Amino acid sequence: MKSPNMLIPILLAIAGISTAFAEPAQKAPSAASLNRTVSVTLPDSEQVFPAGAGADIANSQCMICHSAGMVTRQPPLRFGEWTAEINKMRTAYGAPIAAEQVEELAKYLTVINGKP
Ligand code: HEC
Repeated sequence: MKSPNMLIPILLAIAGISTAFAEPAQKAPSAASLNRTVSVTLPDSEQVFPAGAGADIANSQCMICHSAGMVTRQPPLRFGEWTAEINKMRTAYGAPIAAEQVEELAKYLTVINGKP
């Protein structure tokens, strides 16, 4: 008859094998790696629209979604084309520009980036 004491080394051996195959514990990120401060230098870009009548509307309404450069770097447009462009921003993208502001804004955009 086998001694029950023989079971103890066998069980210890099985336990040792199973821990050897166990996944290594996930290393938690250290507080230092979560709270690190980085410094970036952004490329120069036009921060605001050029001064002029209507610039206030452009500065407050046209930079909600994109930069001023998105507007000033476009090829020059006629007054009617700027009006259509502003209305596209309103209807297609939901730009919150009052209908009464469209004409003044289109005049301004024609002055800063327009053609006759
Ligand atoms: C609600 C968001 C929003 C606002 C506010 C907004 N735009 Fe845009 N605008 C867009 C998006 C989105 C595009 C990019 C469309 C694309 O990538 O094709 C865009 C692109 C443009 C372009 C590039 C040509 C084109 O049609 O894609 C011009 C010019 C422009 N916007 C003018 C204006 C002007 C002027 C105003 C202020 C009256 C304005 N936007 C306000 C969303 C907006």
